[in-house]
Amino acid sequence: MTMTAFEFRDGVLHAEDVPLTTIAEQFGTPTFVYSQGYFEQRYAALRAALDGIDHELCYAVKANSNLSVLHTFAQLGAGFDIVSGGELQRVLTVGGDPARVLFSGVGKTVAEIDLALKHQIGCFNVESAEELERLAARAALLHTIAPVSIRVNPNVDAATHPYISTGLKTNKFGVPAEQAPALYRFAAAHPALRVVGIDCHIGSQIADPAPLLEAMNNLLALVDNLAAEGIVIEHLDLGGGLGVTYDDEPDFAAGAYGAALRTALKDRHLKLLLEPGRFLVANGGVLLTRIEYLKPAADAASDGDAKNFAIVDAAMNDLIRPALYQAHHGIETVQPAAVDARRWDIVGPVCESGDFLAKDRLLALESASLLAVHSAGAYGMVQSSNYNTRGRAAEVMVNGATVRRIRHRETVRDQIALELDGLPASVFDVDLRQTGS
Ligand code: LLP
Repeated sequence: MTMTAFEFRDGVLHAEDVPLTTIAEQFGTPTFVYSQGYFEQRYAALRAALDGIDHELCYAVKANSNLSVLHTFAQLGAGFDIVSGGELQRVLTVGGDPARVLFSGVGKTVAEIDLALKHQIGCFNVESAEELERLAARAALLHTIAPVSIRVNPNVDAATHPYISTGLKTNKFGVPAEQAPALYRFAAAHPALRVVGIDCHIGSQIADPAPLLEAMNNLLALVDNLAAEGIVIEHLDLGGGLGVTYDDEPDFAAGAYGAALRTALKDRHLKLLLEPGRFLVANGGVLLTRIEYLKPAADAASDGDAKNFAIVDAAMNDLIRPALYQAHHGIETVQPAAVDARRWDIVGPVCESGDFLAKDRLLALESASLLAVHSAGAYGMVQSSNYNTRGRAAEVMVNGATVRRIRHRETVRDQIALELDGLPASVFDVDLRQTGS
């Protein structure tokens, strides 16, 4: 359905038309490398799958919030799904249209609500009765009207990892379907609120459209009940969650999902909104990393537990998904090595046994080999940290034969800057140049 962003040409793994070896030389490692063409094509493919449906794609900023990634989607005309005031400011920075911003999340603060009201965002996806009351009060105070949707928890099993499943009664998200009508009545009657939509998001990395369609049916039943009370819903927001291929799972059946939505929404005056994140960006990125040391088992034959470790310069602070969700990320050498393949654990320098990127991978590795960790375009950089005072990786964007740095590699100076004025005066004058870069 879409291009492969990362392919071997003449034995070297490329990002679009650029060899990853060149990127490593120019920008160092670890570096996140993204393909702009891939992002554009995934967006177009999803739009095509929804052809004939009045719809809008609101890119879930949390998946990859780099300004240049957001700019790419803004240029394509996307809306945005945000979960913080910070994400709103990112969207505004790249010229995203606030009227097409959805604000999701269970814990919106007064400051965040005010910021979003000031910029007249498209919709607040409200997750509780208290939040609705707070929103109404802030909108009234600011003499404005807040557009609202109630996030309904449809109690549907998305059949995904428990940490990224959100549509069950036991999850903190949304309000139970039984409670939603009361919130809608409150909103419809309140002069500072305007009912515009209904929404849900049942989880992430969902393989099959079936649970999403089940959630849709639950929401449509509510839409009909509300209509009978004279409360008109203008848009139906089914969230994100469309799964991608990490290992051997099939790519989400966007065409089948679109076809089912087309049928279900045919005679309804409902605009469809989706909030895809991972589907648009995951496989448009790799984490480029170099081997620092090889630590093969002394004698694999003598001990069945013996392990071969390849220690790379990327770690769990750069890509936490393997440690946090037991996630699989494909790993390839950027150039083939003339050595025998064996099973390696690919680990980072962080002082935790949970610091691994992959286990038991059959790879032919030699000292200083460059590796590409695949599917790192979503929930990679955004979940990175400075653990072990490691600077965050650089990010680059490839577009055809051109590469541009879209985020500098973080320096120690960047990291310590926010801590310096906590020091006693005697050491406050520390010469920052000593920390190098
Ligand atoms: N809308 C809402 C309200 C969400 O909470 C999320 C993701 C999305 C949309 C986008 O979901 P997507 O289309 O990307 O599946 N860190 C985890 C994923 C957490 C997803 C949280 N919510 C991971 O690395 O797998």
